[in-house]
Amino acid sequence: MEVILAKTAGFCFGVKRAVDTVYKEAGKKNVYTYGPIIHNSEVVNDLKKKGVEVINSREELEALEEGTVIIRSHGVAREIYDLIHEKGLELVDATCPFVRKIHKIVEKAGNDGDQVIIVGSEHHPEVQGIKGWCTGEVHIISDAEQFEGIDLNKPTTLVSQTTFNYKKFQDLVEILNKKGYDIGVCNTICNATEERQLEAKSIAKGVDAMVVIGDKQSSNSQKLYEISKKECENTFFVQTLRDLDLKLFESTGKVGITAGASTPQKIIKEVHASMTEKSFEELLEESFVTIHNG
Ligand code: F3S
Repeated sequence: MEVILAKTAGFCFGVKRAVDTVYKEAGKKNVYTYGPIIHNSEVVNDLKKKGVEVINSREELEALEEGTVIIRSHGVAREIYDLIHEKGLELVDATCPFVRKIHKIVEKAGNDGDQVIIVGSEHHPEVQGIKGWCTGEVHIISDAEQFEGIDLNKPTTLVSQTTFNYKKFQDLVEILNKKGYDIGVCNTICNATEERQLEAKSIAKGVDAMVVIGDKQSSNSQKLYEISKKECENTFFVQTLRDLDLKLFESTGKVGITAGASTPQKIIKEVHASMTEKSFEELLEESFVTIHNG
C-alpha cells in the first residue's frame, strides 16, 4: 500500500506556536488559557493533566486572584488585556501574529476616523476579538445583503476573518468596486487553510482511500472531510488511531492522509506509522516471495 501524507496536515504556524507556548508554561503554578487553546479534546485533556485550566468567560477571568493567563491564537478584545493587567495577572500572548496584525489595522482605522467592516462569522471568537480592537463604528458582515444599512460613502476600512472563504471575500470586494465605493480593503485571509484544502483535494483525487484526522468538533476538519469525500468516495473521518479499522485498507492500493488545523502531530504520526507499517509488512512478504522463488 502506498501512503501519501499531506505536507499541510495538522497545525498551522499560529496554532503550533500557541500550543507550544502553553506546553512551555505548563509546569508553572496556576496557568490558565482564555478559552480552549485548540478545538482538540486530546490536547486540552493532556494539558489539564499538566495543571492547565481553561477559563471560558470574562466572569471567570474576573474571579481569578493570581496566575498566568495565556491568550490563544484567535486573539481577544483589548478589554481582556486590560482586565488581565488590572488584576495583576501574568499575561502570555499567543495570539497569531496574523490576527494581531488585524487588531492593529482596525485600531488605526478607528483612530483615523474610518468605520470598520469585518467580513466573517459574527460569533467566532476571532471576529469578536477583532471587534474588540475597533475604536469607532464597526459592522460585521458575511454576505452582500448585509451591506444594506451601512453607509458606504463614509471613509471605510474592510478587513476579513483569517479563515474566511477567499472566493466569497473577492465577490464582496467586487460588488463594492462595481458600485464605485472608495473603500480601503485589507485582505487579511490567511492562506494556511486554503493551502490545506487544496492539497487535500488534489491528494483525494488520486487515491483509493482517504483518511482525514480531526476532532469531531473541528469545523475545518469536517470541511476537509467534505472536500475529500467529493473526490474520493472511500473517505474516513477519524479522531485518533483508535477509530481507524486497518482491515478496511487491506486491498487498498493508494491511501492519502490529511488532518485538520487542530490535530496534533503525535496523532498524525501514529496513524501514518500504522499504515506505513502495514505496507512495510507487505514489502517484507513480497521480498520473501521473490527470494523464495529466486
Ligand atoms: Fe494564524 Fe493562519 Fe493559523 S491566521 S492561527 S496561521 S490559520
